[in-house]
Amino acid sequence: MNFLVETLRVLLLSVYYALEALVRLVVPPRRKSVRGEIVLVTGAGSGIGRLLSLHFARLGSTLVLWDINKEGNEESGRLSREQGAPRVYTYLCDCSQRADVYRVADQVKREVGDVSILINNAGIVSGKKFMDVPDNLLEKTLEVNTLAHFWTYKAFLPAMIASNHGHLVSIASSAGMIGVNGLADYCSSKFAALGFAESIAMELLKLGKNGIKTTIACPYFINTGMFDGCQTKWPLLLPILDSHYASKRIVDAILREQVILVMPRSLYIVIALKNLVPVKIGVLLAEYFGVIHCMDQFKGHAKSE
Ligand SMILES: NC(=O)c1ccc[n+]([C@@H]2O[C@H](COP(=O)([O-])OP(=O)(O)OC[C@H]3O[C@@H](n4cnc5c(N)ncnc54)[C@H](O)[C@@H]3O)[C@@H](O)[C@H]2O)c1
Repeated sequence: MNFLVETLRVLLLSVYYALEALVRLVVPPRRKSVRGEIVLVTGAGSGIGRLLSLHFARLGSTLVLWDINKEGNEESGRLSREQGAPRVYTYLCDCSQRADVYRVADQVKREVGDVSILINNAGIVSGKKFMDVPDNLLEKTLEVNTLAHFWTYKAFLPAMIASNHGHLVSIASSAGMIGVNGLADYCSSKFAALGFAESIAMELLKLGKNGIKTTIACPYFINTGMFDGCQTKWPLLLPILDSHYASKRIVDAILREQVILVMPRSLYIVIALKNLVPVKIGVLLAEYFGVIHCMDQFKGHAKSE
């Protein structure tokens, strides 16, 4: 009897949630206000991190900007003030170093207050074939792209749990959903970041902390320079994203409390197919979409050449 009742309940709720999702495609949820929220952005010194900071500056949030690039971070701070951020604090912090994260997090709590929107954005990529990546660079990729998220959550999540208020944002990647030739270290770090963010979301659900929202962003290539040289085979199907467009979509997803954001939208189909079709068709599609060769011309940031 329990089985029948529970199965019926799940079926009915599934239909309801599917309809709700359809309605939300036409009438998206309202954007929340982030005025006065304390927003921490890691890797704020350039690219997406800087652009996210500028969006939150315009929305009246207090900004806490972290980066290992002091000059770039200060510049993001200056630009954020120009955009109207009421309070901007910049810190030199190497997110890959647990002790550094905890030390600077304590300083932030003393000098600014409890972070309410945490955006784990800092990231690096070697762009090399697995056997060519030096061991220390393999470790560093995992430390920046994944482990840093552990340390920032440990530092800032307790206050969010205590107040049942906050938002955890993970800038992962579509490379965290599909393995890519020439990106083994990066994909591993992003799969892990995605799994971590999803699991914590479940933990919070189980704890009943529904005041803490989560957003995971999984973009395809963005023209920030990180993946300079990379090719897309069918630009109409899988375009290289403009950084301004991508950052705008990420902020919109946060404001609308969207749990997962995949960009461009065509990737939703690619990811769904990956888990549905036989492996040989999967490889055929990977060839067709250019996943096998997209890293062939990788140059990355000029400074890492
Ligand atoms: N650019 C893309 O094509 C793309 C695609 C999907 C996902 N992403 C992800 O988006 C995020 C932002 O990427 P981006 O394109 O703006 O790259 P970017 O290189 O322009 O910016 C990354 C920032 O992180 C900082 N950083 C690196 N290591 C750090 C550390 N140990 N501690 C603190 N800061 C550190 C850098 O100094 C830099 O300012 C990354 O997580 C990246 O993996 C990027």
